[in-house]
Amino acid sequence: MPLVATLLALLILGSAAQAQDPARHGRALLKEFCARCHAIGKTGKSPMRGALPFRTLGHSFDLDHFSRLLERGISSSHPAMPEFKFSEDDARAVRAYLQSIQQ
Ligand code: HEC
Repeated sequence: MPLVATLLALLILGSAAQAQDPARHGRALLKEFCARCHAIGKTGKSPMRGALPFRTLGHSFDLDHFSRLLERGISSSHPAMPEFKFSEDDARAVRAYLQSIQQ
């Protein structure tokens, strides 16, 4: 029984930590959905030519506006890029991460 209680406590603490660190969650999302084409870190080149590195996204997009685009579903004129749609929380997490890496 004490073990179960400990595990439960760890679980609750774990999810609280994630809620407190949206930037980390945002990074995980971008890693999962975008990183095979876009550079998502503070350094490095995008794996796909022509896909902008996300640390320069702020040059061409207002990041607040961008997170709303993510909720609505972002589409690109480029056929290689699939359509994405994020929940409000996820879009906010992505914005928090993007803000942390802008140059
Ligand atoms: C299969 C490869 C691929 C994936 C996965 C991908 N992208 Fe792209 N993305 C591209 C390419 C290539 C371009 C350049 C498009 C152009 O300008 O012709 C691009 C362009 C963009 C642009 C520039 C604006 C536009 O509409 O042209 C944004 C913003 C963007 N991607 C965001 C994202 C986000 C956010 C994700 C993940 C949720 C993502 N991309 C996933 C390949 C990809």
